Amino acid sequence: MRLCVVAPTYNESGNVAELARRVAASLGPSGWELVFVDDNSPDGTIVRVREIGAGDPRVRGILRIGRRGLSGAALEGMLSTAADCVAVIDADLQHDETLLPKMLDALESGRADLAVGTRYAQGGAAGGLSRTRESGSRFATTLAKRLLGVELSDPMSGFFMLKRTDLVALAPRLSPDGFKILLDLAATAGGKLRVAEFPYEFRARNAGESKMDANVVIDFLGLLLAKATRDAVPVRFLFFVLVGAFGLLVQLAAFLALRGGMAFEAAQAGAVVAAMTANFFLNNAITYRSQRLRGRALVTGLLRSYVAWGLGAVANLAVATWLHGAGWPGPLASVAGGLMGAVWNFAVANLFVWRVK
Ligand code: GDD
Ligand code: MN
Repeated sequence: MRLCVVAPTYNESGNVAELARRVAASLGPSGWELVFVDDNSPDGTIVRVREIGAGDPRVRGILRIGRRGLSGAALEGMLSTAADCVAVIDADLQHDETLLPKMLDALESGRADLAVGTRYAQGGAAGGLSRTRESGSRFATTLAKRLLGVELSDPMSGFFMLKRTDLVALAPRLSPDGFKILLDLAATAGGKLRVAEFPYEFRARNAGESKMDANVVIDFLGLLLAKATRDAVPVRFLFFVLVGAFGLLVQLAAFLALRGGMAFEAAQAGAVVAAMTANFFLNNAITYRSQRLRGRALVTGLLRSYVAWGLGAVANLAVATWLHGAGWPGPLASVAGGLMGAVWNFAVANLFVWRVK
């Protein structure tokens, strides 16, 4: 088996048969397989995939339950094969599958280690993107190049191919979150893979709709942070601290608003509750978006975080007082207490509120 083409799918039932037909037309009778990795799409994509596979042994499907994410699905597909080379392609026919043989040839002849379909080089075009999406994509490209030093004209491309052994070597350090698996690969490989670019025209989506949304943008920022800090600090903690810093502003604003009519202690208590509430909802939307709480779990989660973070304030105070008593200068002891509180709050949020596995 020379090549495994992986197509992650979420609600692509109207596209999988056509993709399979086109990939077969492009790659010929044998030496390849096409693997759809479906996150249990409500539109029954996997049923269509099983039907195609029943008549064509070159096509198979992986069904993932209780998980979502393009990068994770692509990784899982690429790790499921014994083929020498692995490729990722969108299932909605936006990528140009006729490039697959040329990309494969670049790898097999040893000319390159990573073959990338690009919209932003001579001969490429991003025709299938709206104006807003195109400028967003260009901005993200510039940001990624600057921050990560990735030398690709289109690091946001979802269309690429590499040798399976290279992928397997890099896989433990790749993030399953978000859309940007190629950027992650290139940044993690740190220039060790020789790149060949293949310009193509990004087509308009066939059936169905795009899954790109605000979460995908947050995942992208998280990936940039992770790679820019060389994976030194967990990205989740960075988001948690940013949310916490914003919570401090909420606390100040609430304090100023309440102070007019109340005693200092009452105003401060109200401000702390306001800050914890804001932090809870922001963390639920951003930091813990992959296990976002909803409905009843949202209410219990909020109550739990009041209790847990209340204890965090006690820990903060205890550490600061202890260090100050041990002779540390006041501001230093105070910051150390704050740090202690932040780490405590993060730990209990992970363990008891959002229960990260
Ligand atoms: N399994 C799985 N799980 N597949 C997913 C998920 C998911 O959560 N989200 C999206 N997909 C699949 C889609 O079904 C589609 O086959 C492919 O991933 C791309 O998703 P789209 O929703 O069509 O994304 P897009 O067109 O906005 O952006 C794509 O093309 C860009 C240009 O190449 C992505 O591939 C981007 O990464 C890429 O920059
Ligand atoms: Mn698409």
